[in-house]
Amino acid sequence: MELEQIKTEALQAEKAALDALAAAKSAAEIERLKPEILGKKGALRQLMRLLGQIDATLRPTAGAIINEAAARVESACETRLQELRERELEARLAAERIDVTLPSPSRRVGLLHPLTLTLREIERIFVSMGYSVATGPEVETEYYNFDALNIPPDHPARDMHDTFFLAPGTILRTHTSPVQIRYMKSHHPPIAIIAPGRVYRVDDIDATHSPVFHQVEGLLVDRDVSFAHLKGTLTEFLHAMFGKDLATRFRPSYFPFTEPSAEVDVQCFACRGKNAECRICKGTGWIEVLGSGMVHPNVLSHVGLDPKEFSGFAFGLGVERFAMLRYGITNIRCFYENDIRFLRQFAQRW
Ligand code: FA5
Repeated sequence: MELEQIKTEALQAEKAALDALAAAKSAAEIERLKPEILGKKGALRQLMRLLGQIDATLRPTAGAIINEAAARVESACETRLQELRERELEARLAAERIDVTLPSPSRRVGLLHPLTLTLREIERIFVSMGYSVATGPEVETEYYNFDALNIPPDHPARDMHDTFFLAPGTILRTHTSPVQIRYMKSHHPPIAIIAPGRVYRVDDIDATHSPVFHQVEGLLVDRDVSFAHLKGTLTEFLHAMFGKDLATRFRPSYFPFTEPSAEVDVQCFACRGKNAECRICKGTGWIEVLGSGMVHPNVLSHVGLDPKEFSGFAFGLGVERFAMLRYGITNIRCFYENDIRFLRQFAQRW
C-alpha cells in the first residue's frame, strides 16, 4: 500500500465524517455519530489497521496523517456538538419564555375577623385612656365566677347565667367578671384594666345569642372614684366607638356585684328612634350595649380592700353585640359560620 493511498483514504474518511457532522440536526445525533466516526469501527481507525501493509519507514508519516485527520474530526465533533447544544438551549429558552410583565391573578390574602377588628378598636380606645389589658382563665371555679362576686350558691342571679359544669366546683366562666377578682387579689389600687375574653352560657342560639361569645370587662379602682367617673368614661368610650351624634343613656339596673348598677343604651343607629317598626331596636329607639355599676362593697372586702378607703366602677360588654351595631349585622350566627363572602366585606371598613 502506498502512502498516497493512505493519505487519500484518510482525507475521504475525514470528509465523510465532517459531512455527517454538518448534516446532524441535534446534539443527540452527534452523540450517536461519535462512536461511528471515531470509534473502533470508524473509517479512520480501520485505516490504522492497514499501516502494517506499507513500508516501515513510511509508517510514522502515514500514522501521523491518520492521527491528524482523526484529531480534526474530533475537534469538529466537539465544535458541532457545542453549536447544536447552544442552538437547542436558545430554542428552549424562546419556547419557555415567561412574560414577567403580564399581570398575575390576584392572590387572596387573609383578613382580620370582624370580632377581632371590633375588639381591637375597643382595646385601642381604653388603652388610649390609660387602661391596661388583663386576662383570666376560661375554665374557672364557681368561687371566682360567682361567690367572690357576691353571688352565693342560692342566689337567683345564678339562674341568669346558665352554666356549663366541667366538674363539681369547676365551670366554663359565664362572664369576664371573675378577672376583676383575680386582678384585685394580685394588684393594689390604683387599678385600671380591661379584660377581654371568651365566655360560655347554656343559651339557645338565636339572632342575638350564642352559647360561646366574647365579653370585655372593665374595672377601675382607686380612692374617691364616683359614679360620675363611670358615666364620663363610658360616654367617652361610646362616643369614640359610635360617634358623638348618637345619644347614650344610663338606666338603673341590677347586678349582685355592683351597687348602684346601670345598663347603658345607645340610640338606635338604624332609625334613631324614628321608626316604630324598626327591627334592630324593636321600635324602642335604643339598643342596650353594656352592664355597669360601682363595685359592691362586699366584693371589695372580699379581695381585702377597705370599702371606706377605696371605691371603683366596673362594666361588662358583649363584643358580638358591639360588632353587630357597628356593622349593622342582624344575625350573630354570621360571625361563626366562616363564610368567606361575609368575612371579606370587613377588610376596608374599620
Ligand atoms: C354580665 O355578664 C356582667 N358580668 C356585666 C357586668 C360587668 C355588669 C361588670 C356590671 C359590672 P350580662 O349577663 O348582661 O352581664 O352580659 C353582658 C353582655 O353580654 C350583654 O349586654 C350582651 O351584650 C352579652 N351577652 C349576654 N349573653 C349573650 C349570649 N348568649 N350571646 C351573645 N352575647 C351575649
